Amino acid sequence: MTTTDTTTSTDYAALVARLDLPTKVRLLTGATAFTLHGEESIGLSPMAFSDGPTGVRGLKFTGGEKVALVPNATLLASAWSEDTAREVGELLAEEAERQQIHVVLGPTINLHRSPLGGRLFEAYSEDPLLTGRLAAAYVNGLQDKGIGACLKHLVANESETLRNYMNSVVSERALREVYLLPFEIAVDEANAWSIMAAYNDVNGVAATEQDHVNNVVVKGEWGWDGLLMSDWYATKTSAPAALGGLGLVMPGPDGPWGEALVRDVESGAVPESVIDEHVCRLLRLADRVGALGGQREWPATSLAPDAPERRAQLRRLATDGMVVLRNEGDVLPLARDTTVALIGRHAVDTVCMGGGSATVNPPHQVSVAQGLSEALGDGVTVVDAVPVRALTLPARTDLVRDPESDEPGIRVEHIDAAGEVMLAVHSDDATVTTGWDDDLPRPTEVLRLRAVAAAGGQTRVGVSGTGSWVLRVDGDEVGSVVLTAEGADPGEAVLKPPQWTTDLDLAEGALVEAELTIVRSEPQPGPDGKVSTLSHAIASGMGMKGLLLEEVPRPLDEVLQDAAAAARDADVAVVVVGLTPEQEGEAADKSTLALPGEQDALVRAVAEAARRTVVVVNAATPVLMPWADEVDAILVVGLPGQEGGYAVADALLGVREPAGRLVTTWPAADGAAPAWDVEPTDLQLEYGDDTFVGYRGWHAGRAATPAFWLGAGEGYGAWEYADATLVEDTVEGDGPQTPRLRVSLSNTGPRPSREVVQVYFQPSEDDEPVRLVGWGAATVDPGEGTTVEVETDPRLWRRWDESANAWSTLQPGGELLVARGLGDIRARLPLA
Ligand code: BGC
Repeated sequence: MTTTDTTTSTDYAALVARLDLPTKVRLLTGATAFTLHGEESIGLSPMAFSDGPTGVRGLKFTGGEKVALVPNATLLASAWSEDTAREVGELLAEEAERQQIHVVLGPTINLHRSPLGGRLFEAYSEDPLLTGRLAAAYVNGLQDKGIGACLKHLVANESETLRNYMNSVVSERALREVYLLPFEIAVDEANAWSIMAAYNDVNGVAATEQDHVNNVVVKGEWGWDGLLMSDWYATKTSAPAALGGLGLVMPGPDGPWGEALVRDVESGAVPESVIDEHVCRLLRLADRVGALGGQREWPATSLAPDAPERRAQLRRLATDGMVVLRNEGDVLPLARDTTVALIGRHAVDTVCMGGGSATVNPPHQVSVAQGLSEALGDGVTVVDAVPVRALTLPARTDLVRDPESDEPGIRVEHIDAAGEVMLAVHSDDATVTTGWDDDLPRPTEVLRLRAVAAAGGQTRVGVSGTGSWVLRVDGDEVGSVVLTAEGADPGEAVLKPPQWTTDLDLAEGALVEAELTIVRSEPQPGPDGKVSTLSHAIASGMGMKGLLLEEVPRPLDEVLQDAAAAARDADVAVVVVGLTPEQEGEAADKSTLALPGEQDALVRAVAEAARRTVVVVNAATPVLMPWADEVDAILVVGLPGQEGGYAVADALLGVREPAGRLVTTWPAADGAAPAWDVEPTDLQLEYGDDTFVGYRGWHAGRAATPAFWLGAGEGYGAWEYADATLVEDTVEGDGPQTPRLRVSLSNTGPRPSREVVQVYFQPSEDDEPVRLVGWGAATVDPGEGTTVEVETDPRLWRRWDESANAWSTLQPGGELLVARGLGDIRARLPLA
């Protein structure tokens, strides 16, 4: 272990011995949605957990404190820099300390298997080495400041469809060599203090009950001493989960353990020593984060999420990961006297984060329009074109005012069964979570959302969330609806609530009121035929509710004409396209990589009219770009966090180099990937690509040539590779051969630039895929050369031998490839 381990010499077993069985078991289920029980008699303070991983949201799911929103995981990973990952861990630790949070629920280190995975934006890459090393650096950044990290989700949780019920069918070899590898690296190099067990089953056994993965591999073979918690509502059983290595059920206060687990111990089904072991691990975590034997001292001062230093940092981190995929005739960076037609819905409504539990409440989200207009002033003409969302958004603050306080936003009233208003609060995101840790004295029976329309005109008004709704404008009913969850996965009802809208001609100053009567029902069995704690939670009416309000979209022809006219009048057209949390969010997957709405038509209309066209892709994961050859430049900006628009302006203008390299291969067409389907058949999802995940499969010819390979990215430099030599073939003990390389290269471009030298290994065995084995980076001035040394990782020379149930070493030989992504191989080095 190379991390600082703050474990003290406390004898946890002695503390546990002072507790009776019910007290011990009580500690093993959360106290609330995000906190744990304390136990005064042994000096245990309650711990607080928070999502993770792109900000520290705090204890509230919606409407919490303003917190820093960092760029999303793929954008950060695109810097291919452990220093960046570590810096983000440190930043999140400061955010956690500010809110008195002990454990941050991240990093997400599942892999990008099928590009359709809805949650890939939250995870780093399709490659296990890149993922594992960045995760280790992030965890060290957090934990060196005494804040716990939580690796999630263990394991084989690469898609969202039916995630609570599906079974990932994966060979032991693929598990060991690919899907467990990032966890292994983060345990080995950073000793992550906690891990989260996934929702899904793995090879027929629930992840929360996986004796093999949890006990045998992670705790046994790797010697991991941390706390294994469940994903929220993932635990389905008492004895099998406790015996299967799970140490903590989340969330609380209810769940399948409690009295049932006490009875299991009393009946002998679960040895009490198993409970003791779980409590020891919980105490060790508490000790590490300062919640055992005295209260942790939190810093008296902290950096606000909108402090100038924080803002500059977030802006820099975002630009560093942006990827230049095309730059014909060096159209980028743009000169400051360029006139720009800035076009696209994502230009004005830039998507700065993904959806689901990674969402935070940031102080602001800077759009590209704001960032570029501030930099270029009158030189920018902004055209908002075309709709990109199928669903209507919660009312934006510029469209509504609170009828009581007159602030931008809405008023929310929680009303009990007797009609008494228990809580009336202002909300600036027009969204509320009911039935989940809301600190109310009695359950909310009626929820009233009220707003004054700040602008008049054709307006789409509506509601989202399950229950029975009535919508009124100035006291007159304009509609009513009963919304129920669609789709087989009840989790979707919570994170992707159903909605209803109507188009109205709204007068400025009109009072819009949406009243929800919570509907409670009998818990329904899930697709697995079982009634789970999640079924109970959904049936209680829990979930996100919102007041929707936005402008009615203009006719497409009109919008395209405006866009083309603006493009014609400017030196350069910059079109911002992308995805939204409808595609990049939790609890559902994509069905296509095509850009939503008429965005392809928009790019084509602009490219035809403009002198030069730059496309900015505001998405974290692959999209199809059928117009790629018709435009001059393509810049991928991910989900760039709260300072997003400034970071994009910096990249476009070359204030900082967008020096990122892709972390996932981008397919050329729907279906053209080694793994595509995310829809389980009879709840089974076969990981048929086995160890040939992503670029490994593409390189083996298992899918049509991709549009862009993992590792692709131009930056603003141009690179000549002179020489690549093997420094030595080291042999670590009895372990595998791990060569070290020296690569000489020079920057032949006109600007300083950062190059990422990637080294892949193609083993000599026919059935072995190519794999990334190391990388190095250097920033080089124009006309200068440098030498980059790359160490390769011995773990990529192992092969899991299923018949021996043990690691073996690959045969000697094979070839090292020095490449700028496998589509641009610069040197080949045969190994003896
Ligand atoms: C997610 C976890 C998250 C948890 C708590 C779940 O839906 O899968 O990643 O940490 O919720 O919000």
